[in-house]
Amino acid sequence: PRPLIIDCDPGIDDAVMLIMALGSPSLDVRAITTVAGNVPLRLTSRNARLVCERLGRPDIPVFAGCPRPLLRAPVTAEDFHGESGIYGIEITEPDVPLRPTHAVDEIIRQLKVMPDASVTLVVTGPMTNIACALVMAPEIARAIAEIIIMGGADTEGGNITPFAEFNVFADPHAAAIVLDTGIPATILSLDATHQVRATEARIARLAAIPGERAAMMVSLLNAANNLEARARPGTKVPMHDPSTIAWLIAPELFETQPSRVSVNVKPGKEFGRTRVKPSKKGPHRWVTKVDADALFARIEDILKGSP
Ligand code: BDR
Ligand code: CA
Repeated sequence: PRPLIIDCDPGIDDAVMLIMALGSPSLDVRAITTVAGNVPLRLTSRNARLVCERLGRPDIPVFAGCPRPLLRAPVTAEDFHGESGIYGIEITEPDVPLRPTHAVDEIIRQLKVMPDASVTLVVTGPMTNIACALVMAPEIARAIAEIIIMGGADTEGGNITPFAEFNVFADPHAAAIVLDTGIPATILSLDATHQVRATEARIARLAAIPGERAAMMVSLLNAANNLEARARPGTKVPMHDPSTIAWLIAPELFETQPSRVSVNVKPGKEFGRTRVKPSKKGPHRWVTKVDADALFARIEDILKGSP
């Protein structure tokens, strides 16, 4: 299985992503690191542990990272995730404690001892932790096979401003640091994730699958749709963060454009906007097209697999 570190800010769709990642036999989740984003760090860190515990995986180590973005003031997204961050899941305090190490130190520690191009990083929150790790220990880039990023927007326009997507807007300076390193990255932006929506028919197929994991995912998707209906009546929630795991397990469902992606960090109305410049040599792959039905079929496979 492919070694993976997941950096996230659960987040309803981060939680759905975690259900997929921990249910995919081809992925070996070595750590979950958390960051301030959809809700404050204390809650994203609790939520990651709670999801692992409910999935029967208290063995997955969870490390808390940065409590705020690098430079800008913090922004959160309770309107889309609920006050707890994972509206749809009953909240209890998880038994499994947070690991004592800071997420940034742990990312550096793990990457330092791994062979070249061997570890995949999945990032589904603001990129603060990854940026700090790459600033503190640039030599870890060697061990990174690829970074899979949920963030940014081009043709679709933004979801937090007319131009910016939440994860990049919440820490544009961190996103700029990560993208400017030139480390290979695949980017699932709103251009991709808006093609994959949790419609009632798709949720109904998941709901027909027995077991706790399917029930949990259905409850999360229904909760997300309830919040989405309040904010944007008539639309169904996009599968932002889950698309990263779908890319890892079924890249054939996606079309990509080799690009160089940059971030506007200049204050003003385009603050946090991503710019995509086609570039044969990369270093980025911008996802342009997703087979949404096939992606949902893969989610069904995961949920039907062994717990
Ligand atoms: C991204 O922002 C967050 O609210 C979601 O969890 C996702 O990572 C979508 O813009
Ligand atoms: Ca997220």
